[in-house]
Amino acid sequence: MTHPSTDLTDGIRIRGLTKTYAGGDPHRPALESIDLDVGRRRFVSLIGPSGCGKSTLLRVIAGLEEHDTGEVSLFGSTPRALCAAKAIGLVPQTPALLPWRNVRRNITLPRSVNRRAGTDGEDPDDLLRAVGLGDVAHRYPHQLSGGQQQRVAIARAFGMRPELLLMDEPFSALDEFTREALRLQLLVLWQRRATTVVFVTHSVREAVTLSDEVVVMSARPGRVHEVLPIDLPRPRDASVVTGPRMHALEDRVRASLQSAWEAGAAPDDLVPL
Ligand SMILES: Nc1ncnc2c1ncn2[C@@H]1O[C@H](COP(=O)(O)OP(=O)(O)OP(=O)(O)O)[C@@H](O)[C@H]1O
Ligand SMILES: [Mg+2]
Repeated sequence: MTHPSTDLTDGIRIRGLTKTYAGGDPHRPALESIDLDVGRRRFVSLIGPSGCGKSTLLRVIAGLEEHDTGEVSLFGSTPRALCAAKAIGLVPQTPALLPWRNVRRNITLPRSVNRRAGTDGEDPDDLLRAVGLGDVAHRYPHQLSGGQQQRVAIARAFGMRPELLLMDEPFSALDEFTREALRLQLLVLWQRRATTVVFVTHSVREAVTLSDEVVVMSARPGRVHEVLPIDLPRPRDASVVTGPRMHALEDRVRASLQSAWEAGAAPDDLVPL
Protein backbone atom coordinates (compact mmCIF):
# COMPACT_ATOMS: atom_id res chain seq x y z
CA MET A 1 0.00 0.00 0.00
CA THR A 2 1.31 3.44 -0.82
CA HIS A 3 1.36 5.58 2.22
CA PRO A 4 -0.52 8.83 1.54
CA SER A 5 2.26 10.89 3.07
CA THR A 6 4.91 9.91 0.54
CA ASP A 7 4.39 12.95 -1.65
CA LEU A 8 3.06 15.31 0.96
CA THR A 9 4.89 18.56 1.46
CA ASP A 10 2.76 20.88 3.56
CA GLY A 11 2.11 20.75 7.27
CA ILE A 12 -1.12 21.33 9.15
CA ARG A 13 -3.19 24.25 7.87
CA ILE A 14 -6.34 25.27 9.72
CA ARG A 15 -8.51 28.18 8.63
CA GLY A 16 -11.65 29.62 10.22
CA LEU A 17 -12.36 26.49 12.25
CA THR A 18 -15.45 26.66 14.43
CA LYS A 19 -16.93 23.86 16.50
CA THR A 20 -20.02 23.89 18.73
CA TYR A 21 -21.02 20.69 20.51
CA ALA A 22 -24.60 19.54 20.15
CA GLY A 23 -26.36 20.76 23.27
CA GLY A 24 -23.62 23.30 23.95
CA ASP A 25 -24.16 27.06 24.17
CA PRO A 26 -24.27 28.29 20.53
CA HIS A 27 -22.97 31.68 21.70
CA ARG A 28 -19.86 30.10 23.23
CA PRO A 29 -18.52 27.54 20.76
CA ALA A 30 -15.86 25.09 21.94
CA LEU A 31 -13.65 26.48 19.16
CA GLU A 32 -14.11 29.73 17.24
CA SER A 33 -12.28 31.12 14.21
CA ILE A 34 -9.18 29.00 14.72
CA ASP A 35 -6.37 29.76 12.25
CA LEU A 36 -3.27 27.66 12.82
CA ASP A 37 -0.26 26.53 10.82
CA VAL A 38 2.06 23.77 11.95
CA GLY A 39 5.01 23.19 9.67
CA ARG A 40 5.89 19.67 8.65
CA ARG A 41 8.24 18.05 11.19
CA ARG A 42 7.68 20.82 13.68
CA PHE A 43 6.96 20.31 17.36
CA VAL A 44 4.11 22.55 18.50
CA SER A 45 2.45 22.69 21.92
CA LEU A 46 -1.05 23.88 22.78
CA ILE A 47 -1.48 25.42 26.20
CA GLY A 48 -4.45 27.24 27.73
CA PRO A 49 -7.02 27.24 30.49
CA SER A 50 -9.08 24.15 31.20
CA GLY A 51 -12.02 23.96 28.80
CA CYS A 52 -10.48 26.18 26.10
CA GLY A 53 -10.82 23.42 23.50
CA LYS A 54 -7.37 21.82 23.31
CA SER A 55 -8.68 18.25 23.32
CA THR A 56 -11.44 19.21 20.91
CA LEU A 57 -8.92 20.71 18.50
CA LEU A 58 -6.74 17.60 18.73
CA ARG A 59 -9.71 15.34 18.02
CA VAL A 60 -10.75 17.46 15.03
CA ILE A 61 -7.19 17.25 13.65
CA ALA A 62 -7.24 13.49 14.31
CA GLY A 63 -10.40 13.11 12.20
CA LEU A 64 -12.36 11.84 15.22
CA GLU A 65 -14.58 14.89 15.64
CA GLU A 66 -16.54 16.84 13.04
CA HIS A 67 -16.22 20.62 12.92
CA ASP A 68 -18.92 23.10 11.86
CA THR A 69 -17.14 25.52 9.56
CA GLY A 70 -13.63 26.13 8.30
CA GLU A 71 -10.92 24.03 6.72
CA VAL A 72 -8.44 21.53 8.09
CA SER A 73 -5.71 20.32 5.77
CA LEU A 74 -3.07 17.81 6.88
CA PHE A 75 -0.09 17.56 4.56
CA GLY A 76 -2.41 18.38 1.66
CA SER A 77 -4.84 15.66 2.74
CA THR A 78 -7.85 15.48 5.06
CA PRO A 79 -7.98 14.32 8.68
CA ARG A 80 -10.35 11.49 7.68
CA ALA A 81 -8.00 10.23 4.96
CA LEU A 82 -4.92 10.35 7.17
CA CYS A 83 -6.81 8.75 10.04
CA ALA A 84 -8.01 5.96 7.73
CA ALA A 85 -4.41 5.40 6.57
CA LYS A 86 -3.30 5.04 10.23
CA ALA A 87 -0.83 7.88 9.68
CA ILE A 88 -1.97 9.67 12.84
CA GLY A 89 -0.90 8.52 16.28
CA LEU A 90 -3.11 9.86 19.07
CA VAL A 91 -2.35 9.63 22.76
CA PRO A 92 -5.69 10.71 24.27
CA GLN A 93 -6.09 12.50 27.58
CA THR A 94 -7.21 9.24 29.20
CA PRO A 95 -5.44 6.12 27.90
CA ALA A 96 -7.78 4.12 25.67
CA LEU A 97 -6.48 0.59 26.20
CA LEU A 98 -8.57 -2.45 25.36
CA PRO A 99 -9.21 -4.23 28.68
CA TRP A 100 -9.35 -7.72 27.17
CA ARG A 101 -5.92 -7.44 25.50
CA ASN A 102 -2.74 -7.64 27.55
CA VAL A 103 -0.13 -4.88 27.33
CA ARG A 104 1.84 -6.47 24.49
CA ARG A 105 -1.32 -7.02 22.42
CA ASN A 106 -2.49 -3.46 23.12
CA ILE A 107 0.81 -2.18 21.74
CA THR A 108 0.59 -4.32 18.61
CA LEU A 109 -3.08 -3.41 18.10
CA PRO A 110 -2.49 -0.74 15.40
CA ARG A 111 -0.33 -3.08 13.33
CA SER A 112 -2.92 -5.83 13.55
CA VAL A 113 -5.35 -3.48 11.78
CA ASN A 114 -2.73 -1.74 9.65
CA ARG A 115 -0.58 -3.58 7.15
CA ARG A 116 2.03 -0.82 6.89
CA ALA A 117 2.76 -0.86 10.60
CA GLY A 118 2.77 -4.66 10.47
CA THR A 119 5.76 -4.71 8.15
CA ASP A 120 8.00 -2.23 9.93
CA GLY A 121 6.57 -1.94 13.43
CA GLU A 122 8.88 -1.61 16.41
CA ASP A 123 9.42 -4.49 18.81
CA PRO A 124 6.83 -4.11 21.62
CA ASP A 125 9.42 -5.01 24.26
CA ASP A 126 11.77 -2.25 23.01
CA LEU A 127 8.86 0.21 23.10
CA LEU A 128 7.96 -0.81 26.63
CA ARG A 129 11.57 -0.39 27.76
CA ALA A 130 11.64 3.05 26.12
CA VAL A 131 8.79 4.15 28.40
CA GLY A 132 10.33 2.50 31.45
CA LEU A 133 8.02 -0.55 31.53
CA GLY A 134 10.17 -3.59 30.85
CA ASP A 135 8.15 -6.14 32.80
CA VAL A 136 4.45 -5.64 32.20
CA ALA A 137 3.97 -7.07 28.70
CA HIS A 138 1.69 -9.87 29.91
CA ARG A 139 -0.38 -7.83 32.31
CA TYR A 140 -3.84 -6.49 31.54
CA PRO A 141 -4.73 -2.78 31.77
CA HIS A 142 -6.66 -3.17 35.05
CA GLN A 143 -3.44 -4.54 36.62
CA LEU A 144 -1.56 -1.29 35.88
CA SER A 145 -1.51 2.08 37.62
CA GLY A 146 -2.95 5.09 35.79
CA GLY A 147 0.55 6.34 34.92
CA GLN A 148 1.58 2.88 33.64
CA GLN A 149 -1.53 2.72 31.43
CA GLN A 150 -0.64 6.14 30.06
CA ARG A 151 2.89 4.93 29.25
CA VAL A 152 1.47 1.92 27.38
CA ALA A 153 -0.65 4.31 25.31
CA ILE A 154 2.48 6.39 24.60
CA ALA A 155 4.44 3.26 23.59
CA ARG A 156 1.63 2.25 21.25
CA ALA A 157 1.64 5.66 19.56
CA PHE A 158 5.46 5.58 19.23
CA GLY A 159 5.22 2.14 17.64
CA MET A 160 2.90 3.31 14.88
CA ARG A 161 5.65 5.48 13.40
CA PRO A 162 2.99 8.06 12.62
CA GLU A 163 3.31 10.89 10.18
CA LEU A 164 1.54 13.05 12.73
CA LEU A 165 1.66 12.45 16.47
CA LEU A 166 -1.07 14.11 18.56
CA MET A 167 -0.54 13.95 22.32
CA ASP A 168 -3.09 15.18 24.85
CA GLU A 169 -1.41 15.81 28.21
CA PRO A 170 0.42 12.51 27.82
CA PHE A 171 2.64 12.95 30.86
CA SER A 172 0.14 14.46 33.28
CA ALA A 173 -0.27 11.31 35.40
CA LEU A 174 3.49 10.79 35.82
CA ASP A 175 5.99 11.76 38.48
CA GLU A 176 8.48 14.48 37.59
CA PHE A 177 11.45 12.14 36.94
CA THR A 178 9.53 9.75 34.68
CA ARG A 179 8.09 12.78 32.94
CA GLU A 180 11.56 14.20 32.34
CA ALA A 181 12.82 10.86 30.95
CA LEU A 182 9.82 10.49 28.63
CA ARG A 183 10.26 14.03 27.31
CA LEU A 184 13.74 13.02 26.20
CA GLN A 185 12.42 9.81 24.61
CA LEU A 186 9.80 11.83 22.79
CA LEU A 187 12.39 14.25 21.43
CA VAL A 188 14.54 11.31 20.26
CA LEU A 189 11.57 9.76 18.49
CA TRP A 190 10.56 13.08 16.96
CA GLN A 191 14.05 13.74 15.61
CA ARG A 192 14.68 10.17 14.42
CA ARG A 193 11.34 9.77 12.67
CA ALA A 194 10.88 13.32 11.41
CA THR A 195 7.34 13.22 12.80
CA THR A 196 5.13 16.30 13.16
CA VAL A 197 3.98 16.61 16.78
CA VAL A 198 1.08 18.56 18.30
CA PHE A 199 1.34 18.30 22.06
CA VAL A 200 -1.14 19.49 24.70
CA THR A 201 0.15 20.36 28.14
CA HIS A 202 -0.63 22.53 31.15
CA SER A 203 3.07 22.76 32.01
CA VAL A 204 4.75 25.95 30.77
CA ARG A 205 8.16 24.42 31.34
CA GLU A 206 7.28 21.30 29.35
CA ALA A 207 5.87 23.33 26.47
CA VAL A 208 8.97 25.52 26.24
CA THR A 209 11.42 22.63 26.67
CA LEU A 210 9.90 20.60 23.85
CA SER A 211 8.52 22.99 21.29
CA ASP A 212 9.37 25.03 18.23
CA GLU A 213 6.22 27.06 18.87
CA VAL A 214 3.81 27.38 21.77
CA VAL A 215 0.20 28.12 20.87
CA VAL A 216 -1.57 29.89 23.76
CA MET A 217 -5.35 29.49 23.67
CA SER A 218 -8.09 31.42 25.44
CA ALA A 219 -11.40 30.00 26.64
CA ARG A 220 -15.12 30.54 26.09
CA PRO A 221 -15.01 30.52 23.14
CA GLY A 222 -11.78 28.64 22.47
CA ARG A 223 -9.51 30.78 20.34
CA VAL A 224 -5.85 31.04 19.45
CA HIS A 225 -4.65 33.84 21.70
CA GLU A 226 -1.01 33.98 20.64
CA VAL A 227 1.62 31.86 18.89
CA LEU A 228 5.03 32.18 20.54
CA PRO A 229 8.17 30.99 18.73
CA ILE A 230 10.64 29.13 20.95
CA ASP A 231 14.05 29.97 19.60
CA LEU A 232 16.10 27.78 21.92
CA PRO A 233 18.83 25.75 20.22
CA ARG A 234 18.56 21.98 19.89
CA PRO A 235 19.45 19.61 21.37
CA ARG A 236 17.81 21.05 24.45
CA ASP A 237 20.37 19.77 26.90
CA ALA A 238 20.77 20.81 30.54
CA SER A 239 22.71 23.98 29.69
CA VAL A 240 19.87 25.12 27.39
CA VAL A 241 16.94 24.33 29.69
CA THR A 242 18.54 25.97 32.72
CA GLY A 243 19.82 29.02 30.86
CA PRO A 244 18.48 32.60 31.06
CA ARG A 245 16.81 32.42 27.63
CA MET A 246 14.73 29.45 28.81
CA HIS A 247 13.54 31.38 31.85
CA ALA A 248 12.73 34.44 29.74
CA LEU A 249 10.62 32.30 27.39
CA GLU A 250 8.81 30.64 30.30
CA ASP A 251 7.97 34.10 31.65
CA ARG A 252 6.75 35.12 28.20
CA VAL A 253 4.41 32.10 27.95
CA ARG A 254 3.15 32.70 31.50
CA ALA A 255 2.36 36.33 30.70
CA SER A 256 0.49 35.26 27.57
CA LEU A 257 -1.49 32.66 29.57
CA GLN A 258 -2.39 35.34 32.07
CA SER A 259 -3.73 37.63 29.36
CA ALA A 260 -5.52 34.67 27.69
CA TRP A 261 -7.17 33.92 31.02
CA GLU A 262 -8.27 37.53 31.41
CA ALA A 263 -9.49 37.66 27.81
CA GLY A 264 -11.51 34.45 27.99
CA ALA A 265 -13.02 33.69 31.36
CA ALA A 266 -16.36 35.20 32.26
CA PRO A 267 -16.26 36.53 35.82
CA ASP A 268 -19.18 34.35 36.96
CA ASP A 269 -17.54 31.11 35.80
CA LEU A 270 -15.58 30.63 39.00
CA VAL A 271 -17.56 31.41 42.11
CA PRO A 272 -15.64 31.57 45.40
CA LEU A 273 -16.84 29.08 48.05
N1 LIG B 1 -18.67 15.75 24.02
C1 LIG B 1 -18.91 16.99 24.45
N2 LIG B 1 -20.17 17.48 24.47
C2 LIG B 1 -20.44 18.75 24.86
N3 LIG B 1 -19.49 19.62 25.24
C3 LIG B 1 -18.22 19.19 25.26
C4 LIG B 1 -17.86 17.85 24.86
N4 LIG B 1 -16.52 17.72 24.97
C5 LIG B 1 -16.07 18.91 25.42
N5 LIG B 1 -17.08 19.78 25.58
C6 LIG B 1 -16.95 21.20 26.02
O1 LIG B 1 -16.14 21.87 25.07
C7 LIG B 1 -15.24 22.76 25.71
C8 LIG B 1 -13.80 22.37 25.36
O2 LIG B 1 -13.52 21.10 25.92
P1 LIG B 1 -12.10 20.41 25.76
O3 LIG B 1 -12.19 19.06 26.38
O4 LIG B 1 -11.70 20.48 24.34
O5 LIG B 1 -11.20 21.40 26.64
P2 LIG B 1 -9.66 21.28 27.05
O6 LIG B 1 -9.00 22.55 26.67
O7 LIG B 1 -9.08 20.02 26.54
O8 LIG B 1 -9.77 21.23 28.66
P3 LIG B 1 -8.81 20.48 29.73
O9 LIG B 1 -7.57 21.32 29.85
O10 LIG B 1 -9.63 20.52 30.99
O11 LIG B 1 -8.56 19.09 29.25
C9 LIG B 1 -15.56 22.66 27.22
O12 LIG B 1 -16.42 23.72 27.54
C10 LIG B 1 -16.26 21.32 27.34
O13 LIG B 1 -17.17 21.34 28.41
MG1 LIG C 1 -8.37 18.31 27.41
